[in-house]
Amino acid sequence: MRPTAAAEPFPGFDAADVPRGVAFSRGKVRDIFHCGDTLLIVTSDRISAFDRILGLVPHKGEVLTQLSSWWFDRVGDIVAHHLLATPTARSMHVQRCDVLPVEVVVRAYLTGSAWRDYQAGRPVSGITLPGGMRWNEQLRRPLLTPSTKAGQGAHDRPISCAEVVELGLVAPRLWQQIEETALALFERGRRICAERGLILVDTKYEFGLCDGRLTLADEIHTPDSSRFWFAGHYRELFERGQGQRKLDKEYLRQWLMDHGFLGDGEPPAIPAEVFDQVAQRYISAYETITSKQFAASGDNVEAARQKVLLYLSGLQSESNEEGNVGSDQPPRRQ
Ligand SMILES: Nc1ncnc2c1ncn2[C@@H]1O[C@H](COP(=O)(O)OP(=O)(O)OP(=O)(O)O)[C@@H](O)[C@H]1O
Ligand SMILES: [Mg+2]
Repeated sequence: MRPTAAAEPFPGFDAADVPRGVAFSRGKVRDIFHCGDTLLIVTSDRISAFDRILGLVPHKGEVLTQLSSWWFDRVGDIVAHHLLATPTARSMHVQRCDVLPVEVVVRAYLTGSAWRDYQAGRPVSGITLPGGMRWNEQLRRPLLTPSTKAGQGAHDRPISCAEVVELGLVAPRLWQQIEETALALFERGRRICAERGLILVDTKYEFGLCDGRLTLADEIHTPDSSRFWFAGHYRELFERGQGQRKLDKEYLRQWLMDHGFLGDGEPPAIPAEVFDQVAQRYISAYETITSKQFAASGDNVEAARQKVLLYLSGLQSESNEEGNVGSDQPPRRQ
């Protein structure tokens, strides 16, 4: 694998860089420019774990953008998605939707927070699993374990599918459509990963409504939103009760847990080598899944910002010419 330490990581935009009159917001990982009924979502190299931003991983934003774009191209027959174009290596021009206030998590193995709940005798998002299951054991069938979308600084909370409907977060018929869609997307993801020798262990989807139509938003099957294990090592490591070989953010979560951090209080100082190790895994996930070599853009921070601002000004002048902000949209891909 190639060294990544030399790359200058991209921290995102400062509010001061944002042109006047442009609406701008920041998630933990993404910076978002609002352009009428579309968004320009710029994925920074920020990494979060346990819902906290913890540092920068070189190339991460480019990997996530290109991998999500690759997957969106492969699921359009299952559900409409938000991606219109990828104008720069780390940005996606998307259809804005009303994102539903639920993270739709699908799990095929008992690991992570689901394992921690199970071990503590708690149901997993309202589902009581059979006794005697072991760490990283495959579930009989993939489970939907939604969680609430918490605001910045807060932790997402697992809820049951019944609660999603009872609390009025999503209407019953729409929730049923979401369940079916999420399971179909997961099945597609599992099959493609399996062809590449990876297990898609679990993942998180965000859905929204766009003109009343269910639409897949945010990202899909990336190492930020999913766990990937090496299929060839799974059985032996599982039988021995050892951790799996993996290509995802779990490497950082594990490092943090080994240093006593589970999301509360002050996080420990994380050495640069840890972020480089994460970068290697992200690049490797991209290359294994897509069977393509990852080609970094080579943009430094300034160049990355300028390219985004240039595209943005193009969008603005288009909409000014129309005299109607956001009316001149590229056709939405399926
Ligand atoms: N098509 C879309 N329309 C509207 N919002 C979107 C769309 N796609 C993604 N988003 C939102 O953009 C944000 C992406 O930013 P990021 O991934 O950094 O956020 P996050 O920190 O994971 O989540 P949040 O800020 O919601 O806690 C998320 O809030 C996501 O719900
Ligand atoms: Mg996110």
